[in-house]
Amino acid sequence: MFAPFRTIAITALAGAIAAPAIAEEVNLYSYRQPELLKPLTDAFTEETGIRVNVAHLDKGMVERLQAEGDRSPADLVFTVDISRLAAVVEAGLTQPVESETLLANVPDAYHDPDGHWWGLTTRARVVYASKDRVADGEVTTYEDLADPKWQGRICTRSGTHPYNVALVSAMIHHHGEDYTKTWLEGVKSNLARKPQGNDRAQVKAIWAGECDISLGNTYYMGAMLQDDEQKEWADSVRLIFPVFENGGAHVNISGVAMTKAAPNRENALKMMEFLTSPKAQKIYAQANFEYPIAPGTEADALVKSWGSFTADDTNLMDLAKLRPDALKLIETVDFDG
Ligand SMILES: [Fe+2]
Repeated sequence: MFAPFRTIAITALAGAIAAPAIAEEVNLYSYRQPELLKPLTDAFTEETGIRVNVAHLDKGMVERLQAEGDRSPADLVFTVDISRLAAVVEAGLTQPVESETLLANVPDAYHDPDGHWWGLTTRARVVYASKDRVADGEVTTYEDLADPKWQGRICTRSGTHPYNVALVSAMIHHHGEDYTKTWLEGVKSNLARKPQGNDRAQVKAIWAGECDISLGNTYYMGAMLQDDEQKEWADSVRLIFPVFENGGAHVNISGVAMTKAAPNRENALKMMEFLTSPKAQKIYAQANFEYPIAPGTEADALVKSWGSFTADDTNLMDLAKLRPDALKLIETVDFDG
């Protein structure tokens, strides 16, 4: 989810633009929430002395970078979902980054072969299932969500949300368009209500008895457990990690890219390398309940308690390319209607 526009952060960045004499700094444009980034930027500044200025955006990153052109103060862009990273790259707003450290820390599946985008953490899109009304082993695959046994039992957010578009893209990758269209129709006919709300709202609906299972990203379990009201919702469900019949669990990434116009290129590279270090990966994974990607790093104990899974090994760039096809299918079956 996107954070609201932060006036304070923007003011700080505007101040930085007006004072170019301060060399040791790096500027981020971020779709990630401030509370997720702050522990990381603090640790980076502590280690390197480089000041980090963050502009938190809730939309329009591509348009803003385009409008600013060569004069953009942004060095790095932070976002979640491969489709959003791919959008910035495809708009020609990034530059390739070569780094032995990044290559060593980021598995091949999670970075652009040309170095334009780099993954920092992963999250799986899984099933939240009622502890009371869903038996062990009742759902094991994504394909199974179209089975009539789920009639009136599934809740989800809009089919056109990037999280669901990526999942549908993966289904097309594994089974082709015809199969995926039939699958989408099957899932739609199993919905307990029209798609609405965010991933957490679906868990609330399970808690309230409106449906038995929902689709959601893993880290929302951690987020709900930290919230007094939402903890009850989280306590009513358990996570199930489905797989594709011919693959693994669907994962996506949070990631970073260096802008084409980056005025502080060296500091930006230092920040990217820092973010993939075991130290930063641990901070990141604890702050946002995602899965770290660097070799030798482990998820937070709470995250590990939800279960283990094998991630689908589909190249994320392949999913980004299927996004238009996925959106078209979702609209063809009128998934949200
Ligand atoms: Fe999210």
